[in-house]
Amino acid sequence: MFRAALGYLSGAMHLSNEFLLQCAKRYGTPIYVYNGDLILQRYRELFEFIPWPKLRVLYAMKANYNPAILTLLGEQGAGIDAVSPAEIVLALKCGYQENQILFTANNLTAREMHVAHALGVLFNIDTLSTIDRFGRIFPGSDLCLRFNPNVVAGDNAKVQTAGEASKFGILLSELSTVKNLVKTHDLRIVGLHIHTGSGIKNPRKSLKAMQNLLEIATPENFPDLQFIDFGGGLAVPYHPEEERIDYASFGKNIAALFGTFCENYGRELGLYLEPGKYIVAESGYLLMEVTSLKNNQERRFANTDSGFPHLIRPVLYDAYHHIVNLSNPHGSLRTYDICGNICESGDCFASGRSMPKIREEDILAVQNAGAYCYSMGGLYNLRAMPAEILTLNGKERMVRRSSSEEELVESILAECL
Ligand SMILES: Cc1ncc(COP(=O)(O)O)c(C=O)c1O
Repeated sequence: MFRAALGYLSGAMHLSNEFLLQCAKRYGTPIYVYNGDLILQRYRELFEFIPWPKLRVLYAMKANYNPAILTLLGEQGAGIDAVSPAEIVLALKCGYQENQILFTANNLTAREMHVAHALGVLFNIDTLSTIDRFGRIFPGSDLCLRFNPNVVAGDNAKVQTAGEASKFGILLSELSTVKNLVKTHDLRIVGLHIHTGSGIKNPRKSLKAMQNLLEIATPENFPDLQFIDFGGGLAVPYHPEEERIDYASFGKNIAALFGTFCENYGRELGLYLEPGKYIVAESGYLLMEVTSLKNNQERRFANTDSGFPHLIRPVLYDAYHHIVNLSNPHGSLRTYDICGNICESGDCFASGRSMPKIREEDILAVQNAGAYCYSMGGLYNLRAMPAEILTLNGKERMVRRSSSEEELVESILAECL
């Protein structure tokens, strides 16, 4: 064990270059490193920003399902937004209680419905025919309903999960059909839910989506409500020059809106949020080594020992991830394509990026790699996923190891018939 030297950058706690370099040296690359103290800070500050006594934060574990992170947040009293039966099982194994987990399933099969129901969690359903099926199989159950708030927001089209072009949610105009289904199957609607999109940079859009949901959340339509869940979508800066959203004032606006709503509803309800990115994105770094440099015509390539199966967001979403040359942070600036080791030309973490001079064997850190990076990973080209390190209170520990080539092949053969 060695101590994690914590530095400050852009007002947020970041792990220092020296510490990250020590991690790369000690554990090898590619490797993920997460700053547990920052995860805790992001979780806790939500309670300062949103002054509502019945605020609950359900961590969207799809963002990063490492059990050590789940346990860390569980110890703080977080709940879980789960989207598959296996996510529920993992959350339960990490110490969460059934009543701390909300199951928001897309395209739910009958089998998954039975599995999740046996696990004892509350369902959040967003499709009329699925409500009907659920009601026929489990009449008289409690249920949460996901509506489409008819607002388009999110940092790219692939993660905008509301509005006319989205496959998610029950349309607000389908309210009367929903009420009929609820009555037919004697369901008790205890919660209403929206998730408008990921990385929403305009808080006014989030507030509008909340207002749209609250308009239908009347005691006449839904007399048994215990909570309203406004989903995830809280954005964090990915570019060093991007400004942080003022969540303190956004939080006050949410609480004021919700306070007025609860007065009209006649009861103080729970206000739930389901952030993933906000809690873990900034905590993570993917460290990789530059294996070769190459000049092709005009372009200068810095090729690394990682690739898009380890961190797919730039390839999938054209997402910007800031990359730091830990080994030569003050070198003279040059322009690089920083590429992976996968057999596809598109396998690039950054193109035309101005960076301090890169040399072979330099260690690069891809920042904001805590959310939707490891969890979206895969084994394309059969290179194992990197190990994961978590730092907490100035100490680091490996919380998931990588696999050797032999182990990787053995696990494939074991599944193949
Ligand atoms: C239903 C639901 N809730 C919460 C989230 C978390 O979103 P974010 O990580 O942007 O906060 C997602 C992300 O896809 C989601 O689908």
